[in-house]
Order: sequence, then C-alpha cells, then structure tokens
Amino acid sequence: MLSMSTPMVSWMLARSRLMCARGGGGGGGGGGGSVVVVAMSPFGRMFSSSSSSSSSSSSSSSSSSSSSGIPLAHRDDSSSSSSESARLMHIEHKHGAHNYAPMPVVLTKGRKCEVWDVEGKRYLDFLSAYSAVNQGHSHPRIAAAAIKQMEQLSLTSRAFHNDKLGPYEKYITNLLGYDKVLPMNSGVEASETAVKLARRWAYDVKGVPNDMARVVFAEGNFWGRSIAAISSSTDPESYGGYGPHVPGFDIVPFDNLDALEEAVSDPNCAAFHVEPIQGEAGVVLPSNGYLKRAKEICEKYNVLLIADEVQTGLGRTGKLLCSQHSDVRPDVVVLGKALSGGYYPVSAVLADDEVMLTIKPGQHGSTYGGNPLACAVATAALEALVEEGMLENAMVMGERLREGLRRVLPSDSVQEVRGVGLLNAIVMFPDARATAYEACKAAMKRGLLTKPTGRLDNVIRLAPPLVITAEEVDEAVAIFGDAFANL
Ligand SMILES: Cc1ncc(COP(=O)(O)O)c(C=O)c1O
Repeated sequence: MLSMSTPMVSWMLARSRLMCARGGGGGGGGGGGSVVVVAMSPFGRMFSSSSSSSSSSSSSSSSSSSSSGIPLAHRDDSSSSSSESARLMHIEHKHGAHNYAPMPVVLTKGRKCEVWDVEGKRYLDFLSAYSAVNQGHSHPRIAAAAIKQMEQLSLTSRAFHNDKLGPYEKYITNLLGYDKVLPMNSGVEASETAVKLARRWAYDVKGVPNDMARVVFAEGNFWGRSIAAISSSTDPESYGGYGPHVPGFDIVPFDNLDALEEAVSDPNCAAFHVEPIQGEAGVVLPSNGYLKRAKEICEKYNVLLIADEVQTGLGRTGKLLCSQHSDVRPDVVVLGKALSGGYYPVSAVLADDEVMLTIKPGQHGSTYGGNPLACAVATAALEALVEEGMLENAMVMGERLREGLRRVLPSDSVQEVRGVGLLNAIVMFPDARATAYEACKAAMKRGLLTKPTGRLDNVIRLAPPLVITAEEVDEAVAIFGDAFANL
C-alpha cells in the first residue's frame, strides 16, 4: 500500500526519535487509498504516498558545514591573520553569538551587483543577502526615499495614522491585485501572520471547531526561525532542541499532489503553506503544473493556498510573484526581503477581505509594522523593480547564466544547473571530488560570493541582484569555469 522514498523514511525516523526523546504525544487522523498517515508527532501528521516524487531534498545525513555552527570565520584562509578582515572576524567571533557560520569575508561596500571587502577586494555578489537585495546594492532611488523619510518621520506605531501607510497600501494592493495588505517586518513574522490569518478564517468562515485547525506544509520548507516556523520544519538543525513545538501542523512531501489531497481533505484543514520554489532546501523546483493543481485541490476542499514568496517573489524569478509563472493566484501571499531592497526589514501579507478582515483591531500587530519609513522604503523598492526593467532583466540574464554554466561546468562533478529567472543553483554530485562549500571558496578566491544551500552540502545557490549585466554574468560563468577546473 505504501512506498516511501528513502529520504522521507529517514527524515521521519530521525524526527520521531527526537520526538520520543522529548516525550511528545500523538495527533489524530488517518488516511486511505494509496496515501496514508505514516507517522504521528506532537506537531502533526506526515503524509506520504506511493506516488511520492523524487524532488525530496531531505536526508538523514548531518548538515553541512554552512549551517552546523562551525566557526568558518575562524577558518580564514583568504586573508592573513594580521589583516583587517581577520581582526574584525575575531571580534565578531569573540563577542557575537555563534548562530551563523559566514564565509570568511568582511564586506564594507556595495554597489549594484558588486561588493568590496575591507581590504578593497571586489566581488560579484551572487547571493543578494538571500534575495533581499534584488534591486542591487545601494540603489539610489531607495536610499533617497529612506533618507528623506528618516529626516521627516520614522516611527509612529499604529497607535496613530501616518501619511505614508495608506498610499503604500493602495500601491502594493493595486500592484499585486489583492483587497488588503497587512504590513509586518521580517519574513518569518509575515508567514506567521499568514498562518494566524488562516486559522482565524478557518474558525470564522469555514466553521472549523475551535482550536482544531490544521495547516499543511511541504517537506523541506523554510520560513524562518520562530518557534512556529521551526515547528513545521523538517530540518533537525532547525527544530532540534527547541521543543515543545506548535501543534496543528502537517507535513506532505513537496511536489506530491496525492499526499497534499489526503492532507487537505481533512475538514479541519485551514491552509496549505508552500514556497513555489523551495529556496533554502536547495532551489528545488516542483514539476510543471504542481502549483496550479495544488490550488485546484485546495479549492476543492475549501482550503487556503498560502504562497510564501519571501524568496521567490518581487522579480527574483522574472515575475513579481513566482506563482504567476503557473498562472496561480494564491489566496494569501507572503512577501519580505526585497520589499525594502535590503535597506530595512519590511514584510507583508496580502489577501482579500474574506480572509484579511477576520483579524480585528487589537488581535495582531507589530510596533514597527507599517511605519512611515518602511512604507517609503517599500514603495521606492517596488517602483524600482517594476519601472526599471528588473523583471525582464532577470529572465534574460537567468537564461544567459544557466546556458553559460551548462557550457563550462564539468559533467563529472556537476549534476545539473537549474532555476528560474535569477533564482538558480549548481547541483553537484553528492560524491563529487569537492564539496559545494569548497567550490564556493574557490569562487570567492576568484572574486564571486555565494554559499551552499540544501541539506546535502551539494547545492550552490546563485541569486545575484536583478540589475546584473551581461558582462557580469559572463564574468561569473568564467569564474565558475575556472574554479571547478581547479577543484
Ligand atoms: C521562503 C522564506 N520564507 C521566509 C523566510 C524568513 O524571512 P526572515 O529571515 O526575514 O524572517 C525566508 C528566509 O530565508 C525564506 O526564504
């Protein structure tokens, strides 16, 4: 009846072991047909099916050096121990928490697609602060808007109205075609807001009994680091050691419609929360038609489709929303990162009145959410994206990048180059002679910055600012060609 992919099995075993160690109880529910509930957890149920796709990115292998907490900053081999970089990395290591393991480079300046370290070395930025700097570093239009607003009025809280909020709300809702926007700050807050909205909608509109609402997530999802976000995570590095977790969440394999249908057919299901392309999981693309069919399934069972477009949205894939590639209008859209072009944490949730108006005054908010500075910055950031040809450039440059890389990268170590627009990845064979981290180090030496992603340490994410030029794309292709030839 059931055949689970090996990664799915190993993930579930690893997770249930962790749960047992922490003494959690089980949830309810059952499956039928070719899809069954294959494990219970304090957080929810994990659905699998005989038609499980091959897109799963989970593994029981230990996490990569990029996320394991090894202080890479102290493995500095790019500058001498007496350099300014080494001095600054040492201070950071001594006085800062060790919750990140950055590449050993200390940046001090950025313009468009270029950044410079404190020794004056120039690099192409192929990460864009995880797609927050889509508009390019130090975009003058956004900087001017920010400075002007800082000198005028920065924060009022929502205790009072401000003269920037309404016009920003009108602009963004018109641009993306939704009735309402709810402004927050970070991406994780916005996704959490979407989950809260879905629960409220489930109780107030769908008629789910109180405290029974469930939200379905895809295996490999990443939406931040709050307790709720890690409660839906399938990455032990994220959720391990932070229990007890938030209940009411279910997991389905990404790109598996049978499992999705089984999960959302639960009458208590409020929403399916999904990234159209899974960024942190390794730039994992679903099969053609997945999102469209997922939306149809959600509609069939009166379940909301929440698209987490924090990384895929705002031009990254060549459209304002990645969902638009699939001709899908999600019920709820979550945005962050590039909504400020890298100047300031600004995030947003968009939805129509039926969903948005379930939250009443006093029931959700944030001191900084919707402040005048954020509104001015976000308006300028959106205008820059749509008025300066960045979406079109992302399509053309993405194509050029993938073509170039496929031409120069060695087929014995590179499995594939994949992506949409300027959200791309080099996928290395897990047993290649070098790791993705080593390849990133080799690229860094040659003047290009990025980092591995995914749980197998075999994926290199390529997400330069959307203002990248053809010359810079060609330079990046040449750097990777040389780096891989010398690994
Ligand atoms: C898809 C997605 N959602 C949400 C988040 C969380 O955003 P933030 O780090 O601003 O909280 C991220 C961050 O990488 C993300 O990639």
